Amino acid sequence: MEFMDLHIREEELRREIEEVFRRTLESARYVGGPFIEGFEREFARWVGVRRAVSVGSGTQALKYCLWALGIGKGDEVITTPLTFVATAEVIVSLGAKPVFVDVNPRTFQIDEEKIEDAITPRTRAILPVHLFGAPAEMDSIVEIARSHRLWVVEDAAQAHGALYKGKRVGSIGYCGAFSFYPTKNLSAMGEAGAITTDWDELAEKVILIKNHGQDRPYHSLFPGENGRMDAIQAGVLLKKLPYIDRWNRRRQEIARIYRRELLPLVQLQEVGEGCESVYHLFVVLHPSRDALQQKLASLGIPTRVYYPVPLHLQKAFSYLGYRRGDLPVAERLSREILALPIGPWMEDEEVYRVVEGLKRALN
Ligand SMILES: Cc1ncc(COP(=O)(O)O)c(C=O)c1O
Repeated sequence: MEFMDLHIREEELRREIEEVFRRTLESARYVGGPFIEGFEREFARWVGVRRAVSVGSGTQALKYCLWALGIGKGDEVITTPLTFVATAEVIVSLGAKPVFVDVNPRTFQIDEEKIEDAITPRTRAILPVHLFGAPAEMDSIVEIARSHRLWVVEDAAQAHGALYKGKRVGSIGYCGAFSFYPTKNLSAMGEAGAITTDWDELAEKVILIKNHGQDRPYHSLFPGENGRMDAIQAGVLLKKLPYIDRWNRRRQEIARIYRRELLPLVQLQEVGEGCESVYHLFVVLHPSRDALQQKLASLGIPTRVYYPVPLHLQKAFSYLGYRRGDLPVAERLSREILALPIGPWMEDEEVYRVVEGLKRALN
């Protein structure tokens, strides 16, 4: 069994992707063009927003959201320490300062009850991450942001299609950032990302940023970057988009089996009231996580650790001055969380093999 299997299994989809390659070869449209336009239109519709702007990666999507909102030197952005490094890295790359708020011990999402204590006169935005495919507690986050006049940028890199009270993530804050890295629920065949928003002005600003600040060829309004998505990746994503709901439903089915079988034995991530996770990852908590992982490996069950070091204790952010013990929930979770295999490629037999393996390992 593999932890992740990224092969495309659907014959029809393989043929459609081969057709994307062939059309790209024949048209020689490598940048911009109909695949980009088509994917941006369809992805916006699927998320439930007016605009989607394709970019080169999820990291660029996050960075350009913050950049377009004017966040920069001297500003503070509140986020979670239990995430992939990109979430905080982009704040630093704009000259701003990440402020980490501890996570909720049941949902593992940024703890909305601790956000207000972290707000200072320099705070400009809250950047929640919809962790492991489950939505963060958006109503409270949006309410806090509103009362303190802060932006909300959603890191939706792990949660394509997750529902928060009937709305898809990426449609709740001022803008959302998605990654289509190959391991994600909706993935390209390489690097790709997108921002989603209902706000035309923000979308237009991101289009300028990702295109060297140019409003027409060789006329720059400000120094931007090259942050465009390859046309061929947009073609792949456009062909995969009709499959994502089915793939997410399969993840949810597997998660139901895991939950039913494992809930009496180990602590699991709770999904908020009125929310639906798309189970990018399925994680269990165990106080002797490393020993459990080794035992499972000896039984042929591959697992992974997300994330072994919370961001406030990473060397990259040591200059911020956080100490061990500052964010105790995230610190404990990073010692206890173990991700089990999950994905649309898994057969029921494999799911039950993981369940049985975990039961044996726990005995
Ligand atoms: C939560 C989160 N944010 C941001 C990113 C960055 O996305 P990318 O790898 O496409 O730059 C990722 C994934 O890699 C992620 O998991």
